[in-house]
Amino acid sequence: MEHFEHPCGRSRILVGPAAGALARVLPAECRTVVVTDAGVVRAHPELTAPYATILVGRGERCKTFAAVERVCRELLAADADRATFVLGVGGGIVTDIAGFAASVYMRGVRFGFVSTTLLGQVDAAVGGKNGVNVDGYKNIMGLFRQPEFVVCDPTLTGTLPDREFRAGLAEALKAGIVGDAALFARIERASYGALRGDAELLSRVVEGAVGVKCSIVEADECEAGVRRKLNLGHTLAHAIEKCSDRMNHGEAVAVGLALVARASVRLGLLCEAECRRIERVLRGLGFELDPPVPVERLLREVVHDKKREGGVLHAVLPEAVGSCTVRPMSVAEFAALFA
Ligand code: GLY
Repeated sequence: MEHFEHPCGRSRILVGPAAGALARVLPAECRTVVVTDAGVVRAHPELTAPYATILVGRGERCKTFAAVERVCRELLAADADRATFVLGVGGGIVTDIAGFAASVYMRGVRFGFVSTTLLGQVDAAVGGKNGVNVDGYKNIMGLFRQPEFVVCDPTLTGTLPDREFRAGLAEALKAGIVGDAALFARIERASYGALRGDAELLSRVVEGAVGVKCSIVEADECEAGVRRKLNLGHTLAHAIEKCSDRMNHGEAVAVGLALVARASVRLGLLCEAECRRIERVLRGLGFELDPPVPVERLLREVVHDKKREGGVLHAVLPEAVGSCTVRPMSVAEFAALFA
């Protein structure tokens, strides 16, 4: 089967069967050490068994600097040197920790990823952000460094629980709203069951989301401008994740997308029909669109959070499916938009 390949800065993003893709991109001259988690080892032993393996914990709480340090210690114990290649195999938590550790171990060794979750394939693994959480604040420590490659094999997502799979669809829809109306329409036309069961359709969705992300990252790798668009719905989603354990990242992003769409209508940027369309597609995929805590509580969290960053935020607002704009505003202005 052919691989779809997209450049992303210095990185190659390959969508297609993992084994064939790895044979093409894994450097034969290097010793490979895999960073992964126990769930991935159980679900996809063919990807991890051939290599020395370092395990990290599962769940957002494990994405810490301590985990990065542990991986570095284990690399040292495994005699990894500057010619070692670190291969992160797993979801966003694994790839963030693996990318961070590989970027600092011996001042940086070569690394790449096999992304095994839909959320990782359409967003987290692609684009060179490697971050960990500090005191519950997401991705406070980290660095931009591009993996040499990211292999996105949509068939690997077949072992994911529904909630995790659906979380990836929220990020794929976000990519559609940000920059690819045809991707959005493809998801809109499909049922949840078809997206889960039709490998060809899912590949097209992953390819579309990868295309949006790569073209934005190529233009603005370090998020000084246009890359901010990829944060559509995320300011409120992060506040939801901070205030409540009830929603995973993708579920919180779905609520954030609906809230920013409504705010865009209030500002006269988005027409009512297009906003209803976004809400309809999100609901059709099974997302709840009401925040799990009152919006006022979320806004208090945003204000508190953004004060740490100098009080200015870049609100990302949809203008239509396939196009959005970034508006710098004070946290007070942002809060007023949603109050
Ligand atoms: N997840 C947003 C970005 O990579 O910029």
